[in-house]
Amino acid sequence: MKDGILKGSDRTKEGIKLHTPEDFEGMRQAGRVAAEILDEVAAEVAPGVSTGRINDWIHQRVIDKGVKSATIGYRGYQHASCISVNHVVCHGIPNHSKILRAGDILNIDVTVIVDGWFGDTSRMYVAGMPGGKAERLINLTHEALFKGIETVKPGATFGDIGAAIQKLVESRRCSVVRQYCGHGLGRVFHDSPQVMHFGKEGSGPELRPGMFFTIEPMVNLGKPATKVLSDEWTVVTRDRSLSAQFEHSVGVTEDGVEIFTLSPAGRFHPTWTPAA
Ligand code: MF3
Ligand code: CO
Ligand code: CO
Repeated sequence: MKDGILKGSDRTKEGIKLHTPEDFEGMRQAGRVAAEILDEVAAEVAPGVSTGRINDWIHQRVIDKGVKSATIGYRGYQHASCISVNHVVCHGIPNHSKILRAGDILNIDVTVIVDGWFGDTSRMYVAGMPGGKAERLINLTHEALFKGIETVKPGATFGDIGAAIQKLVESRRCSVVRQYCGHGLGRVFHDSPQVMHFGKEGSGPELRPGMFFTIEPMVNLGKPATKVLSDEWTVVTRDRSLSAQFEHSVGVTEDGVEIFTLSPAGRFHPTWTPAA
């Protein structure tokens, strides 16, 4: 076929989709809705409340906002959120018999579909007040997410993101989970590339404007090893040490990064301060 007849691919040679300026607007809407739900759910978290009840509340909010949950029906998953308590690393299944106790720390992860666009974000919450180690872990994990986000700009690489996160976490004598990573997203939930939270500077594909992906480091107080429970979803630390995670959906711009899932209320950070 003659040159010029085929349209240029909208994917890089590594298969990473490059989105248009209009696509950014779609992600802004989806990201905002997901982040609003994480803002609002803070008031529902308290000792004595079950993770099942928190999930029911989230499901109702998703319905009220007229959007769709991306997780219900995803590979057989049946809930509008993942709620991962204490040594649960990720993919904790909400359960009405899992009652939060004072000092429990939990990650709540919500993904919604708005006009076909996926907004995926998670934050840490505390039932009551955190212990000192838990608070330190939560703060470190949030800092690590932003170390990763700050490296995002055209010309940097995916390895730069992972290296920045790993360097910070290990300098504080904590560990980065290896088995789970961030992911490309957009009009699909999990696309290429896999976004590692560890690695070597300068390695991996180069970042280009229009790439959309999540960064979602999981950080353990103890060793990095994880295992999946017999329910085939719940991921826990093998040494039962505490684990924390934060997640944002981001896009690469001409000169840096746009975060689609920032808290509209500015409540982007740990939420153990009682909601006003
Ligand atoms: N939201 C998770 C992520 O960050 C995926 C959850 S899939 C589920 O990619 F099925 F467990 F909900
Ligand atoms: Co994700
Ligand atoms: Co998520």
